[in-house]
Amino acid sequence: MKALITSGGRGTRLRPLTHTQNKHLIPIANKPILHYAIEYAVEAGITEIGIVHGAESDAVPKGIGDGSQWGVKITYIPQEAPLGLAHVVKISEDFIGRDKFVFYLGDNIVVGGLQRFIDAFETNGSNCHLTLARVKDPERFGVPEIKGDRIVSIEEKPAVPKSQFAVSGIYLYDSTIFEAVNNIEPSARGELEISDAHQYLLDKGFSVTYSEITGWWKDTGKPHDLLEANRLVLDNIKEDLSQAEIENSSVSGKVQVGKNTKIINSTVRGPAIIGDDCLISDSYVGPFTSLYHGCKIINSEVEYSILLKECLLQDVDIRVEHSLLGNGAEIVRVENKPSTNRFFIGDQSRVELL
Ligand code: G1P
Repeated sequence: MKALITSGGRGTRLRPLTHTQNKHLIPIANKPILHYAIEYAVEAGITEIGIVHGAESDAVPKGIGDGSQWGVKITYIPQEAPLGLAHVVKISEDFIGRDKFVFYLGDNIVVGGLQRFIDAFETNGSNCHLTLARVKDPERFGVPEIKGDRIVSIEEKPAVPKSQFAVSGIYLYDSTIFEAVNNIEPSARGELEISDAHQYLLDKGFSVTYSEITGWWKDTGKPHDLLEANRLVLDNIKEDLSQAEIENSSVSGKVQVGKNTKIINSTVRGPAIIGDDCLISDSYVGPFTSLYHGCKIINSEVEYSILLKECLLQDVDIRVEHSLLGNGAEIVRVENKPSTNRFFIGDQSRVELL
């Protein structure tokens, strides 16, 4: 069994964060999104992983490396243009060979990992095993039509969905999928659609089975989604205060703290994760907050937020909530007259004042 992971897409709706980094490298609960996919594959005993990335950038190969940190071999497969998920599979045929594989969209996170789906695929002995999640807005996804316990058809982003399920971004295949991706035509949006490949398999009588999943998150490109993913992952972390230096503070709930981090005269309420070399002083850090390495929270309050590397909150007398701060962002109060707000923010940033 091999794994094939996608990491393309421009992430335009996550600007300004994606001006300086590929969206798959943005950390959720202090770990780049793409690490989740890799770690799920590693947990499932997979040792050969292919990552397809936009040929125009080497950010992913540079940021992820050769896989040795996980004890696996990562092969990078450049895609010349974003021509669809079935195209991603098509250009990966040499890498996959005749092996079975899990195809994983790198902007998906699924609590609980992959092993259970691999087991179901092996037990069913099917040609293709899909993972389905119940959603409120199936029209945004690939949608199966289910009769009894069988998938009878699949449509991509149908105006009138035939079920409440979305086909999530975790697929298991044997090599019959290559026959499918080599025989379908581009859709109206000019892409080889993975749903058309699945429909091809159904039309030709190949077996397409499924598992239902919960705890699934997909990046739909909006900052709010990253906060939701952060919540989902933090809900499942284990407490680890073994490296923390805590002084005169209250730390409760599931909280993970990295090395060289000091928590002084503060309250931290989990689930929350605080990286290495941080300082939390005279402050409150509330549930569903991820503070990346080198953040300083001084005389301030933050909750349900993601702060990337080396952010600073100092003397902020309103609670920072539902917020996403890029690397090195600072919010500080200064004593000055007249009393005004001053902003020095990058392209396509957004500040909400209440
Ligand atoms: C793609 C697939 C769609 C699937 C979704 C899951 O959609 O085309 O069938 O349901 O991923 O993440 P896209 O992200 O390209 O809109």
